[in-house]
Amino acid sequence: MSKKSFTLMLVSSLVMWLGTSSFAKDYDYIGVEKCGKCHKKEKKGAQLKKWQDGPHAKAFKTLGTDSAKLVAKKAGVTGDPQKAPECLKCHVTGYGLPAARFGEKFKAENGVGCESCHGPGSAYKKKKIMKDHDKSVANGLVEITEKTCTECHNDKSPTFKDFNYEERVKDIAHPVPEGAKGGDDEEEE
Ligand code: HEC
Ligand code: HEC
Ligand code: HEC
Ligand code: HEC
Repeated sequence: MSKKSFTLMLVSSLVMWLGTSSFAKDYDYIGVEKCGKCHKKEKKGAQLKKWQDGPHAKAFKTLGTDSAKLVAKKAGVTGDPQKAPECLKCHVTGYGLPAARFGEKFKAENGVGCESCHGPGSAYKKKKIMKDHDKSVANGLVEITEKTCTECHNDKSPTFKDFNYEERVKDIAHPVPEGAKGGDDEEEE
């Protein structure tokens, strides 16, 4: 084999490797409002409202409270907790990633949004893909496990006590009711 064709072979196998490894796939964060468009109906489980009424939607607001200031002080973090990387990394979605990874509708003020757990949704958000579990996963939907939660629910959190996955996951449950799956009445982009 000539030197040139060997180099070509190396380059093309690198391109193929990049194409198949998850490393090459940087999905973007589209924001809660976009997910909510298709996940707000009562008969489909009102995921948007359940999230809004749950603990994660207020995670950023919490950092603006007096008790957050106390927590910050005890943790040796000076300045406004709503601006402190030490706090934001668990209290908003995708903290620290480049601006290009966030869609126009994305708002950090929404705290711990859908995509903190389900993964950035720019590629799986299409109805055709969403209806197919395997296709969704191939396009970035996370298969949630205890580890998804313990990225944040761990002893690096200054207010951490414990985290019982089986119990806590019930507190934030937002299932699609049995029999309501499928159908064709969701809003499309
Ligand atoms: C265009 C409409 C649409 C958008 C936008 C959308 N979804 Fe979905 N999603 C669906 C449909 C349809 C299903 C299939 C279940 C059903 O019929 O209710 C689904 C299913 C899901 C499931 C279950 C998937 C599985 O196989 O386990 C999750 C989780 C989910 N969506 C989260 C999200 C998140 C997070 C976002 C935003 C990043 C989002 N969806 C955006 C329409 C949408
Ligand atoms: C990106 C970080 C992050 C991830 C991932 C995350 N959480 Fe949270 N969670 C938080 C923050 C921050 C709060 C506190 C919100 C507040 O009080 O303002 C919280 C609060 C909660 C609470 C209410 C307080 C408590 O401890 O009882 C429950 C329940 C909860 N999360 C369950 C879960 C479960 C279950 C998962 C995984 C499926 C999960 N969380 C994933 C950051 C996260
Ligand atoms: C490793 C992730 C992580 C970091 C870092 C983090 N938090 Fe949190 N925070 C959480 C989680 C998870 C919860 C909810 C359960 C708990 O208290 O552990 C929470 C809850 C809180 C609460 C509500 C507690 C309550 O008892 O109502 C406050 C206030 C808070 N955090 C402030 C802060 C401040 C201020 C910082 C920065 C100094 C910070 N957090 C850094 C993950 C984190
Ligand atoms: C704190 C983590 C967390 C957040 C935030 C979160 N979810 Fe989920 N979601 C879960 C878990 C855990 C499940 C159940 C296990 C699974 O389906 O992976 C779930 C399941 C779902 C399902 C599938 C329900 C079913 O029965 O098939 C949909 C749809 C969904 N979430 C949509 C959303 C939307 C939309 C948002 C934002 C408005 C959101 N989720 C926010 C953790 C989260």
